[in-house]
Amino acid sequence: MTVTADDITFEQIRAEWAVELAAIERAAFPTAGIEDLLVPEEIEVYCDTFPEGGFVALHDGRPVGMGVGIFIDFDFYDPHHSLDDLIGENSCGNHSADGDWYYGVTIAVDPKYRRLGIGQQLYVRRKDVVRRFAKQGIVAGGVIPGYRDHLHEMSADAYIDKVVAGDLYDPTLSFQLKNGFEALGAIPDYMDDPAVGDNAVLIVWRNPDVADRA
Ligand SMILES: CC(C)(COP(=O)(O)OP(=O)(O)OC[C@H]1O[C@@H](n2cnc3c(N)ncnc32)[C@H](O)[C@@H]1OP(=O)(O)O)[C@@H](O)C(=O)NCCC(=O)NCCS
Repeated sequence: MTVTADDITFEQIRAEWAVELAAIERAAFPTAGIEDLLVPEEIEVYCDTFPEGGFVALHDGRPVGMGVGIFIDFDFYDPHHSLDDLIGENSCGNHSADGDWYYGVTIAVDPKYRRLGIGQQLYVRRKDVVRRFAKQGIVAGGVIPGYRDHLHEMSADAYIDKVVAGDLYDPTLSFQLKNGFEALGAIPDYMDDPAVGDNAVLIVWRNPDVADRA
């Protein structure tokens, strides 16, 4: 059977899916260290902490993707951070209802369900949360898996510039740019991922309803 976008539904995240969602996370980030990935217990804590910020894509009632985030204050004048430091205990301990930004903790789609628009639909829902709570926007450390093929040829910043210019394609950053994100530069030592020299890219989507610009 060929799956189409019409076969996919979306729900707010629920703890009953924690084990399947953790398996999707592992499959989505095959070269990342396990300590940087969401495990079932963390997903359960997240569901108690900020379920309104998490979305799951389902096929026949089973999870095939998720987008999870928390509200935090983000300092754009000191943007270099590690994923762990920023999100806190259980990958959501630093959630604050008063935080100005939605920080994207993870977005992951089962490799068998890619290129169906699931990632884009997860972003539609994340942007809706940002608008509903009148937050500044979405900020995240985005992975750059395509950099592994250029690690020894150019800096992460040079790679990012080429993806932004459209000279190189990155399976994740190109998708983020298409979804309205800006790339603000490399974040060294973001997470344990030797394949890309532990680099990520700072990405931001600004809520057009909010005038206060960071
Ligand atoms: C990045 C990721 C979440 C995207 O998920 P996805 O569901 O495949 O995303 P979409 O289907 O919305 O878009 C992916 C591409 O498919 C294209 N697409 C969407 N619907 C399509 C369709 N029906 N037919 C053909 N292509 C389609 C999109 O235009 C996009 O193209 P691009 O790569 O040129 O930008 C997914 O690849 C993933 O889990 N990657 C590993 C984890 C990761 O990198 N997460 C991000 C952390 S920062």
